[in-house]
Amino acid sequence: MIWWLLMLAGMAQGQTPHACSPCHTEQIADFGSHKHASKAGLECGVCHGLSEKHRKSNGEASPDRVAAPDEVAAMCGNCHAQEKSQYMQSKHQVAMVQRAAKSANCSTCHGHHAMKEWTVTQAGCAKCHATTPAACKGKPAGAVAAKVSCMNCHARHTLTVTGP
Ligand code: HEC
Ligand code: HEC
Ligand code: HEC
Ligand code: HEC
Ligand code: HEC
Ligand code: HEC
Repeated sequence: MIWWLLMLAGMAQGQTPHACSPCHTEQIADFGSHKHASKAGLECGVCHGLSEKHRKSNGEASPDRVAAPDEVAAMCGNCHAQEKSQYMQSKHQVAMVQRAAKSANCSTCHGHHAMKEWTVTQAGCAKCHATTPAACKGKPAGAVAAKVSCMNCHARHTLTVTGP
């Protein structure tokens, strides 16, 4: 369980949100609403590092760690290894690495500080998938039409077709 080692390391370095206030009140509030903070007790530092120079320079120096879009999966994968390995097989990851087109990473679907509800996330799929194959308009057996989601037919992380 790598996550709790990171967590302990984070706590040992005292990276409480207080170390980041008053400069980042919005991120602190958003993060406080996520299970990461409210249930797992994670701190800003597990993803951004102690960022001491950053804090003392009033933001002039960069934080220790800020993941680029194609590095987010590795950042989250430190603790969510299974989801990461599934995502790594997806065309989202392929496109992300090729940078040929804007693609989706973990935070596109889940958010990074606050947690996005799936209904909100799904509305965002159309930004990049304005048109989908006719097969996507189908109704999976047993599903209520109004509640059909992309993930009724696509595996959530690999995206492979599982239905209808
Ligand atoms: C004294 C003020 C101050 C403190 C304290 C502070 N920051 Fe910042 N931070 C800034 C400023 C200014 C910026 C640049 C403008 C912005 O993006 O808001 C910034 C930007 C950032 C960014 C975005 C950098 C980027 O390249 O996009 C991250 C991540 C960040 N801070 C993390 C933290 C974390 C984590 C802490 C606490 C450990 C912290 N900051 C404490 C002032 C501060
Ligand atoms: C689970 C990992 C994670 C944790 C914990 C986390 N962040 Fe972030 N943060 C990210 C990601 C991902 C981004 C988007 C930029 C990037 O790709 O790194 C980001 C971006 C930011 C930014 C740039 C502006 C924005 O809102 O996108 C700031 C400032 C920031 N974080 C501050 C904080 C502070 C303060 C905390 C603690 C209250 C915190 N972060 C906790 C992952 C995290
Ligand atoms: C330091 C370890 C750590 C990192 C890094 C981390 N997580 Fe988590 N995450 C956890 C833990 C622990 C939980 C379980 C919280 C609970 O339910 O008790 C969790 C829960 C979640 C959940 C909710 C799952 C559910 O059952 O509702 C999602 C979604 C999630 N994380 C996504 C992410 C994303 C996206 C990132 C990267 C931006 C990330 N995590 C980075 C440790 C981590
Ligand atoms: C295309 C959207 C999408 C992307 C990209 C994505 N997820 Fe998910 N993820 C979902 C959906 C949908 C669920 C099912 C739960 C829900 O309804 O929110 C889920 C569930 C989870 C869960 C809860 C456990 C489970 O399997 O139900 C975790 C943890 C998680 N994702 C982490 C990640 C991480 C880490 C990444 C990046 C490596 C990632 N996700 C990328 C859509 C996505
Ligand atoms: C920021 C842009 C972006 C967003 C947002 C986005 N995608 Fe994608 N998606 C892509 C790209 C780029 C590809 C790869 C296209 C290709 O390879 O031709 C892709 C491919 C796919 C595929 C095809 C997988 C395969 O194996 O053929 C599915 C299914 C998919 N996305 C579902 C979703 C769902 C569901 C959402 C919303 C949760 C979503 N996408 C959000 C950019 C995005
Ligand atoms: C009723 C089942 C079903 C639902 C619901 C569904 N899809 Fe699909 N999707 C499919 C099937 C089957 C294919 C492969 C057949 C094809 O390409 O014609 C596919 C293929 C795709 C592709 C690959 C297109 C390409 O050209 O390679 C994308 C992108 C996609 N779906 C996105 C989505 C998004 C986004 C949603 C939600 C808004 C969604 N799908 C909902 C069944 C579904």
